[in-house]
Order: sequence, then C-alpha cells, then structure tokens
Amino acid sequence: MKILAIESSCDETSVAVVEDGRRVHSNVIASQIAKHVETGGVVPEVAAREHIKAMIPVLKMAMQEAKVNWKDIDAVAVTKEPGLIGSLVVGRVTAAALAFAQDKPLLEVNHIHGHMYAPWLVPADIQEMPAEPQLPILILTVSGGHNELVLVRGHGDFEILAESIDDSAGEAFDKVARLLGLGYPGGPAIEERAKLGNPEAVKFPIALRKEKNFSFSGLKTSVFYYLKDNESRLKDETFVNDIAASFQEAAVQALVQKLVQAIHEYAPKEVHLTGGVSANRFLRGRIEEELSRIQIPPLFRAPLKMEYCTDNAAMIGAAAFFMR
Ligand code: KG4
Ligand code: ZN
Repeated sequence: MKILAIESSCDETSVAVVEDGRRVHSNVIASQIAKHVETGGVVPEVAAREHIKAMIPVLKMAMQEAKVNWKDIDAVAVTKEPGLIGSLVVGRVTAAALAFAQDKPLLEVNHIHGHMYAPWLVPADIQEMPAEPQLPILILTVSGGHNELVLVRGHGDFEILAESIDDSAGEAFDKVARLLGLGYPGGPAIEERAKLGNPEAVKFPIALRKEKNFSFSGLKTSVFYYLKDNESRLKDETFVNDIAASFQEAAVQALVQKLVQAIHEYAPKEVHLTGGVSANRFLRGRIEEELSRIQIPPLFRAPLKMEYCTDNAAMIGAAAFFMR
C-alpha cells in the first residue's frame, strides 16, 4: 500500500511517498530555516505563507522522485495536530482537496505519533531490509515541542509514562543556544560546540530526578543566571564551548535517567529514540552506553537517516499506515 503523506505543522513543508509504512520512495522537505534565522525563531504568520508557496512544488517533486502517478497511490495522509494552526491548515486543506479530487481515503495523523514511527522508516532502495520492530516498544520522543516517554503495546495502544510539564528538551537547546549567541536552530549548534567543551565545567541541575515527568525550564533558567553572572566571558570561545557541553550533559542525563528507569520497569523488546533531538549523536551514544550495561538489553533504534529525525512527511505516512 502506497501512501502520499503531507507534513506542515511547523516550519518544514514536506511530502513523502511511503510503501507499507516503512519503505520511503521519496521524502521531500523544504525547510524555512533561512526565513526564521533573522527572527531567531518561527513566526507563525510567516511560516504559513511559506507553506503556501512551497506546497505544490514539493508535492510535484515527491511524486516525481517516487516515480508514481495518482493511480499508484492508495491513500493521502496528513498531520492533523499539534502545530501552528496556519501551517497545519495549509497541509490539511491540500490533503483534503487531493483526496477528494483523486477519490482516495484521507488519513489524519497526530504529529507526535508520526515521530514515534520514524525509526520504522527505511529508504526504499536499501540493500537489506532491517527486521520489523518487535512490540512492546519503549519510545523516547524528544522534539522542539514535546518530550514523551511512551510504552507501545500495539499500534495505537500507547501508554504515556512521562511527558514534559514545561519546556521540552529541544526548546531548551534552542533557548540556551540563543543565550550563547549560537543562533537558530539551537540543537545542532549546541551539539557542535559541546564537542569542543568540557561537560564537567559547570554542574547544572538535573531536572526532576525523582519526579515522573520531564521538566527543562529549571535547567534553562539556571543557564540563564549563570550567564548573567558571567556575561563578560561570552566573548570567550572556550567558555561558550564549556557551557554548551555542560548544558548538553545535564539535559541528556535527565532524559536518559527516565528512560533507563522505564526499561527496568517495563522490560520492552525495543527502545526507540525519535524527534528532532534524536539527531543528537551524544544522546544516542549515551543511550547505547546505558543499554550495554543491561544483561539482556532491548534492541535500540533511532531514525536511520537524519532527515527522519526532524519534521518530515515520511513519518506521517508510516504512522498513517500502521494506525489506519
Ligand atoms: O521534532 P522537531 O523537528 O520539531 C518539533 O516537532 O518540535 O524538533 C526540532 C527540535 C529543535 O528544538 C532543534 O533544536 C532540535 O530538535 N534538534 C536538536 C538537534 N537537531 C535538531 N537538538 C539537539 N541536537 C541536535 N543535533
Ligand atoms: Zn516534530
């Protein structure tokens, strides 16, 4: 079954063609990052207008790359929520119009459920197809808008074990990057600078060690006050690298602690890491390190390609297939 999927919830216009929820024939992503660099973040009105411009060209490219015509497509999928309303409307109206005109079913998908299926994706031309993920799966989703730790017992049978009660980890990466003058988006910039810094330079607090849910606003605030007290040192590259590394260390520890607790409690067959922050190699490495200490560790998967980590339509096509 081939699904044509559309994602436009934030600042990426994306259209993909995905077969049987896993094989990605195309996943075209038009990023608006350049537009939002000036403002240091996404301006909803600007984002919606950019989606209008990009949507049809991206749709055409995705169908061309996948070498499909409408007769090959079995359904149209689209991100329903959450997201910026103006941006979501562009995707949903496009999908609804296409489904109506081509007489295909319309499948609406929650954006977070989309992220949860990103580790299932493989490029269609892959030599060896990785085995199908085995349930139950423990998923740590870490994106710009949300953090969630979810136990998946079946498709659509999700138990949320923990979620963010204030800033998500991605948001904290973005805000700390801005404080450090590293620009937008902050996650990749912090990761790069952290490679050059000392993670033990400053001991920032590990968020809600004993609590059930995730919280990153305390960590962000503590970085803010530390920088306020050391403003003159922001010109020093080494200082910036050390703060990036120390912040990343605290954020990753907070995520990994909850994940490891849940692995012991629920003994899943697999552990998946998804969402924009799953692109972070340091976080992936830390999880692998923790798993290697477990006697019979669950299988670890993160999205195979970096483009499946951040917002993309292929993940929406996967979730639509498995949850239809
Ligand atoms: O999932 P996503 O694309 O959008 C939402 O649904 O929110 O996540 C975007 C977030 C941003 O906060 C960005 O800074 C973060 O993912 N991110 C990273 C990395 N790449 C993207 N955070 C840490 N390290 C990275 N390499
Ligand atoms: Zn997302």
